Amino acid sequence: MAQLDTLDMIVLAAILVGTLAYFTKGTYWGVTKDPYASSYAAANGSKAGKTRNIVEKMEESNKNCVVFYGSQTGTAEDYASRLAKEGKSRFGLETMVADLEDYDYENLDTFPEGHVAMFVLATYGEGEPTDNAVDFNEFITGEGPSFTNDADPPLGNLKFVAFGLGNNTYEHYNSMVRNVTAALEKLGAQRIGAAGEGDDGAGTMEEDFLAWKDPMWTELQEKMGLEEREAVYEPVFAITERENLTKDSPEVYLGEPNKMHLEGTARGPFNAHNPYIAPIAESRELFTDKARNCLHMEIDISGSNLSYQTGDHIAIWPTNSGKETDRFLNVTGLLSKRDEVISVKALDATAKVPFPTPTTYDAVVRYHMEICAPVSRQFIATLAPFAPTEAAKAEMAKLGSDKDYFHEKISNNYLNIAQALQEVGGDEKWTAIPFSAFIEGVNKVQPRYYSISSSSLVQKDKISVTAIVESIDLKDRESLKGVTTNYLLALKQCQHGDSSPDPHGLTYNITGPRNKYDGVHVPVHVRHSNFKLPSDPSKPVIMVGPGTGVAPFRAFVQERAQQMKSGQPVGRTLLFFGCRKQTEDFLYSNEWKGYKEILGDKFDLITAFSREGETKVYVQHRLQERAKEVNQLLEQKAYFYVCGDAANMAREVNTILGKIISEQRSIPEAKAEEIVKGMRSANQYQEDVWS
Ligand SMILES: Cc1cc2nc3c(=O)[nH]c(=O)nc-3n(C[C@H](O)[C@H](O)[C@H](O)COP(=O)(O)OP(=O)(O)OC[C@H]3O[C@@H](n4cnc5c(N)ncnc54)[C@H](O)[C@@H]3O)c2cc1C
Ligand SMILES: Cc1cc2nc3c(=O)[nH]c(=O)nc-3n(C[C@H](O)[C@H](O)[C@H](O)COP(=O)(O)O)c2cc1C
Ligand SMILES: *[C@@H]1O[C@H](CO)[C@@H](O)[C@H](O)[C@H]1NC(C)=O
Ligand SMILES: *[C@@H]1O[C@H](CO)[C@@H](O)[C@H](O)[C@H]1NC(C)=O
Ligand SMILES: *[C@@H]1O[C@H](CO)[C@@H](O)[C@H](O)[C@H]1NC(C)=O
Ligand SMILES: *[C@@H]1O[C@H](CO)[C@@H](O)[C@H](O)[C@H]1NC(C)=O
Ligand SMILES: *[C@@H]1O[C@H](CO)[C@@H](O)[C@H](O)[C@H]1NC(C)=O
Ligand SMILES: *[C@@H]1O[C@H](CO)[C@@H](O)[C@H](O)[C@H]1NC(C)=O
Ligand SMILES: *[C@@H]1O[C@H](CO)[C@@H](O)[C@H](O)[C@H]1NC(C)=O
Repeated sequence: MAQLDTLDMIVLAAILVGTLAYFTKGTYWGVTKDPYASSYAAANGSKAGKTRNIVEKMEESNKNCVVFYGSQTGTAEDYASRLAKEGKSRFGLETMVADLEDYDYENLDTFPEGHVAMFVLATYGEGEPTDNAVDFNEFITGEGPSFTNDADPPLGNLKFVAFGLGNNTYEHYNSMVRNVTAALEKLGAQRIGAAGEGDDGAGTMEEDFLAWKDPMWTELQEKMGLEEREAVYEPVFAITERENLTKDSPEVYLGEPNKMHLEGTARGPFNAHNPYIAPIAESRELFTDKARNCLHMEIDISGSNLSYQTGDHIAIWPTNSGKETDRFLNVTGLLSKRDEVISVKALDATAKVPFPTPTTYDAVVRYHMEICAPVSRQFIATLAPFAPTEAAKAEMAKLGSDKDYFHEKISNNYLNIAQALQEVGGDEKWTAIPFSAFIEGVNKVQPRYYSISSSSLVQKDKISVTAIVESIDLKDRESLKGVTTNYLLALKQCQHGDSSPDPHGLTYNITGPRNKYDGVHVPVHVRHSNFKLPSDPSKPVIMVGPGTGVAPFRAFVQERAQQMKSGQPVGRTLLFFGCRKQTEDFLYSNEWKGYKEILGDKFDLITAFSREGETKVYVQHRLQERAKEVNQLLEQKAYFYVCGDAANMAREVNTILGKIISEQRSIPEAKAEEIVKGMRSANQYQEDVWS
């Protein structure tokens, strides 16, 4: 509340600053030799030639607060930039945001007095760091990390604050922030405020963050002698409309991810910064159920130098639908300017423009902004001063300060940012919001991962994906549509002869920027995982994969059938699969017979159809029915795998397995649970669980 009152008082100032940034056509606010140069020169351009020394970086850019993030899908990154903005606007800290992957840590012992480091860290897998935090985590939690000086304790001069993102339904809840905090303290660093923990499992992530940060700021204020001031919105990016360019000018990015893609010279290595525009070789639907769609796609990587191993993940880069792109551009008053060319320039040397420019409003919104995601309460509060009417401003302020009201109006209705603005503003357009505020406040589009459902031994050049199309019915509202999976459905329809597919009324710029995706292409990269078959195929395996959780197991079974054909000894292969009805959503029902013919008595598919009988039967019940064999196989060192979109299922399977071991071996449950834990740490029990 206090913060909003302050915000209200400076509304005029903020509008002035904001609208200047927005409307000052042709003026340029930065200071470099080539004002229009994109900060995204090449695929790895944003990194080339930059220092990996954080202390040096802070010195040269005059910063006294760095907010590091370890993030996989962008939430931690978003929180990091919100902390940085708030530190600057409320306390005058000179803040910067830093990707943990971009720096080295040997010289953290030279971190200057009077500076502060913040860590915003998500936990993944089974208590693992995010990809970008692997090296940092290894360094800081490792045995006696070596620093440049011999100070004792090494990090005596480091003040830090920490916030973790996790989900309490996972066994290793928030282990990343816990381990890192403990490691830093052990090295003598001084923690300020409590290490916060946000919980996705309880659905309170945003509120946990908001509740954590206020006392943290108070303590930081005391420790660093900071003065709170009136929060002033200062744009991080200057937007310049480029009147001498049109969307047909060759240097204008229309959604191309980097310069090589723009110039048509895209080449490998293809990775999270440089996707491969892959042809879709084949696509079809796996359900006969009219109300739901499940896709099988074969993605051709033969022209890419990309490779994969059975069990890896493929990342798919989505495009927003025309409907949502239009809604966003419409409510922000940008519809008529959608194809105008803009340059975006960071006003601060440490801020990165999250997409290449010059570009158009349409391309930014369509290809680079996660416009369909849930909205944060803090972002609504930030936008309040720019509301089109006094009533809308008051409503935004109320939403921003009253969490119950916010849940009732926004979260519970699953509104995205444009829908929220429509809801509050009616037919009014929100033209006063500086575009910079959206670049700062809306996450950048994240590629979505899929467990590869083919074996690299069988088809090394074609990756198959098994994806259920997300569509959640909401009473009295448009249903909620998954961004990536509906785009994939449109691609499938296109491949089957529909020239302008519109699944559920969503349309897409299906041929991509400058028709570069024409002929049904999709941008992808491959992510290696630890979810792997035993290297010795004669070892038995037990797989539990209901629904689309069967994806990697189709790959596993395909691989073992191939090994059998080539005369290798293949061990017992048990697959537990569950769905609603045999006739409706039984994935790959015809294929399993073929594998059975090859694998013979080595392979059994055990099904659980939950909606066929009187009582619901799930995979865990089938596992219990097979207790004796499961236990025998485990005693022969079988590998045990669980995959799926239901973390609850994974937990129940874990519990049942403990019970089975306990009963079959006549040992106490606690002892059996220890055995299961031991299997996990020995990689004999592997999970690929995605929510
Ligand atoms: C390692 C890994 C492997 C995976 N493997 C597979 C696989 O093999 N097959 C598969 O089908 N999926 C898999 N997934 C899941 C997949 O990555 C995607 O999350 C899924 O397909 C949905 O993506 P989407 O873009 O269609 O939906 P999104 O647009 O990302 O929406 C996803 C969900 O977010 C929520 N949401 C979205 N917008 C809002 C809003 N405005 N308000 C409130 N809530 C909202 C809803 O619950 C929605 O269902 C995997 C995930 C991971 C991490
Ligand atoms: C595949 C997967 C595995 C996860 N594993 C854990 C875990 O082991 N412990 C935990 O506390 N949270 C876990 N989480 C929850 C994430 O940390 C949480 O959703 C967080 O908000 C993600 O932040 P990000 O968007 O910055 O990556 C997991 C989430 C996913 C999707
Ligand atoms: C990537 O960066 C390195 C320097 O860090 C540079 O030598 C190389 O040419 C760059 N590659 C591309 C494709 O820009
Ligand atoms: C944290 O430590 C525990 C126990 O040592 C370990 O199991 C877990 O994997 C660690 N998590 C991270 C993120 O390093
Ligand atoms: C956290 O885990 C639960 C189940 O254990 C899952 O239903 C939920 O979707 C997860 N939360 C998020 C936001 O991923
Ligand atoms: C467009 O105008 C800017 C200055 O306003 C100039 O630097 C740039 O070279 C011009 N570009 C073209 C293509 O004419
Ligand atoms: C996508 O389609 C819209 C509407 O047809 C068009 O205005 C826009 O320029 C297209 N964008 C791209 C990047 O192709
Ligand atoms: C693949 O690798 C070869 C040899 O390293 C290289 O010549 C070729 O250009 C690469 N192709 C792509 C598409 O990156
Ligand atoms: C823009 O929004 C208005 C309502 O504010 C609606 O009447 C109009 O049809 C929308 N235009 C487009 C092109 O979506």
